[in-house]
Amino acid sequence: MGETALIGRLRADLSAAGYTASAVTAVWGPTADEALRRGTLLPASRAAADASGPVAVLARLFVLGLAVPEEDAAAALPALGVDGLVDLGLGRRVPHGVASETELRPVLLPDADGVDEWWVVADPGEARVGGALPDDHVLGVGGATRTLLGLQLPRRVGTALDLGTGCGVQALRAARYADRVVATDISERALRSARLTAALNGVPDIEFVRGSLYEPVVGRRFDRIVTNPPFVITPRRADVPAYEYRDGGLEGDALVEAVVRGAADALTPGGIAQLLANWEDRGEAAGLDRVLDWAAEAGLDAWVIERESVDPASYAETWVRDGGTRRGDTDFDRLLEAWLDDFASRDVRSIGFGYVLLRLPASGVPRLRRGERLGGPVGDGLGAHLATCLDAEDWLAERDDAALAAARLVVAGDVTEERHHWPGDEHPTAMQLRQGGGFGRTVPLDAALGGLVGACDGELSVRAILGALASLLEEDEAALTIALLPQVRDLVANGMLLPAD
Ligand SMILES: C[S@@+](CC[C@H](N)C(=O)[O-])C[C@H]1O[C@@H](n2cnc3c(N)ncnc32)[C@H](O)[C@@H]1O
Repeated sequence: MGETALIGRLRADLSAAGYTASAVTAVWGPTADEALRRGTLLPASRAAADASGPVAVLARLFVLGLAVPEEDAAAALPALGVDGLVDLGLGRRVPHGVASETELRPVLLPDADGVDEWWVVADPGEARVGGALPDDHVLGVGGATRTLLGLQLPRRVGTALDLGTGCGVQALRAARYADRVVATDISERALRSARLTAALNGVPDIEFVRGSLYEPVVGRRFDRIVTNPPFVITPRRADVPAYEYRDGGLEGDALVEAVVRGAADALTPGGIAQLLANWEDRGEAAGLDRVLDWAAEAGLDAWVIERESVDPASYAETWVRDGGTRRGDTDFDRLLEAWLDDFASRDVRSIGFGYVLLRLPASGVPRLRRGERLGGPVGDGLGAHLATCLDAEDWLAERDDAALAAARLVVAGDVTEERHHWPGDEHPTAMQLRQGGGFGRTVPLDAALGGLVGACDGELSVRAILGALASLLEEDEAALTIALLPQVRDLVANGMLLPAD
């Protein structure tokens, strides 16, 4: 039987079994599920040993990596059968039954538009492997994966590219918004996982192409590019393992530079690329500015958000541990030293992590250069917020101060005003605006800005509000305008005030 037919049967079996994320959690309960998330398998394995039914069998086989009796596997996969599972390369017969070296699990992936639940095919993680991961490991859904899924702009486009697709979920999400999706990876094993993930979830039209960076799509252009590239900075030395799934084989942050610069030749005019990345703060040159410079030199609009910054030793420890080497292992200090030498050779003071949004300007002339450091918790669906802010940037770029003053604005629905009083004092000692969504920004308010924002109901122009405020506060209107308009611009750029028309 052909592979497509076998995958169809597997899909039918998973569906009939009710192999959903909540059903899998129910097999071992929320506490064991939490332990699993931390990388401890034992509580789930113990609970699953007592559970019966197809979901428990599938969870033991595909999530916990335990062998199951052949008759149990056959009963859980009645259409595919054990032979079909073996033919698909998703299982093998072992002395005690059937085992799988693949992870195939239902995953809930929320964003602002709702929740996708997909069966994701990947390699088992570190907890199941029980040590260092192989160089050609295919990554499952991790924190960075979820972040980029939530960042994808919820706007319809014609074509999208997922560069470095791994297990394929970015391509699946992109397919929600794009008519045609191309997914690339340097790893044939990753492409195989991604193809299976797509087929199992009934997203059949993704084009999968093997190759490095933009090379497999040279000469083609896309309205949207999404990429969670292998950005982990790794010393380029023979005695330091290179992991295909996380490190692109170049020195320092050169891979990120290549992805950023290369976007200019792979985007359609007006097209947008979104990526996650690490960047190096070298000497006095902030990484954030280096990324903005690469984009500007390539003729791209850019918005770079640095979410965190860590020192070289912390960064090295994280990625040495991620590779499966623990503190106390003989290799730990040797690897740490290799990382520190590598950073020292480029005078790297710290390493930033964040989000990059690039756009090939339709006019041919880049005009957006926005870089900011925004830590703190964010929700699942930042993509919609980014889209609002990008629209706001375009709206602002077309308006000088006179045009902005003539505009009518409304306060965004997620913005609230906070007032803090000394006990017993009727006048607030501090006021601020708080954004409920997006990056949860806060903006300090004085009486003038508070009054202006409070009057933005879409009826009066900013100029009319400024005039009324000037008389109320007995201030010079021109001075008030000069003081407040830049703040109004910032509030619009951050989606806290919205154009009324
Ligand atoms: C961090 S994983 C991201 C996987 C997936 N897109 C996600 O969001 O979880 C990076 C992927 O890039 C692939 N990769 C590594 N080097 C590459 C290169 N030079 N060109 C294209 N893909 C590459 C890896 O095989 C891996 O699948």
